[in-house]
Amino acid sequence: MLSATRLEVMRGGRTIVAGVSLYADAGHALVIHGANGSGKSTLIAALAGLLPLSSGALAWQGVPVRANPARYRRDLAFLGHTDGISGELTVLENLRFAASLDARSVLKPDVLDAAGLTALGSLHVNRLSQGQRRRVALARVICSNKPLWLLDEPTDALDDSAAAWFTACIDAHLNTGGTVIAATHRPIESDAARTRRLHLTRSAPCCA
Ligand SMILES: Nc1ncnc2c1ncn2[C@@H]1O[C@H](COP(=O)(O)OP(=O)(O)OP(=O)(O)O)[C@@H](O)[C@H]1O
Ligand SMILES: [Mg+2]
Repeated sequence: MLSATRLEVMRGGRTIVAGVSLYADAGHALVIHGANGSGKSTLIAALAGLLPLSSGALAWQGVPVRANPARYRRDLAFLGHTDGISGELTVLENLRFAASLDARSVLKPDVLDAAGLTALGSLHVNRLSQGQRRRVALARVICSNKPLWLLDEPTDALDDSAAAWFTACIDAHLNTGGTVIAATHRPIESDAARTRRLHLTRSAPCCA
């Protein structure tokens, strides 16, 4: 379980995230909605440890992240607005490189296949379409075998069939006890019973 209490995040001298509390259990997803500029990307980046908290606390599996940041980093996969993959490498080189960085990460041919990437494996990423690049980035997350996925607009640029593929991947991840926190404008049609929503507004964050 990831829990966050009264998070505050500042950027450019302004408070962007103010007093946000949230939690996501193992086997559950939290989907963060909100208008452009409401702070979704800022919140996801702060949860991933990429932006400092000016106040508040994060706990992973009941342990304050400050007490064991290495364990938290080991357990999370982050995908931001940008894909985080190299345009100079091929699809397979990117995924092999990601797998080489972490012992738990395994390049799975069935993931490539389901992502529609098998035929694109030897192409350089900078020759792919935006949606194809997003599929590579998502395949990296899936192959990471990390329990916690922190995702910013994961289905951005995906066509309907790729979005359905990724929704099925989220369900499979939840089924095996994984946790997903995703910011998105597009509804994620994963198992409703295991999905909660957080609506962010700049002035009054609230949890439904
Ligand atoms: N590097 C930065 N420096 C200063 N302010 C920033 C920076 N990045 C974002 N902001 C501000 O933080 C606020 C929230 O931005 P953020 O990207 O978190 O919103 P968002 O909810 O993800 O929006 P979108 O739906 O467009 O993705 C915006 O008002 C933006 O101007
Ligand atoms: Mg954003």
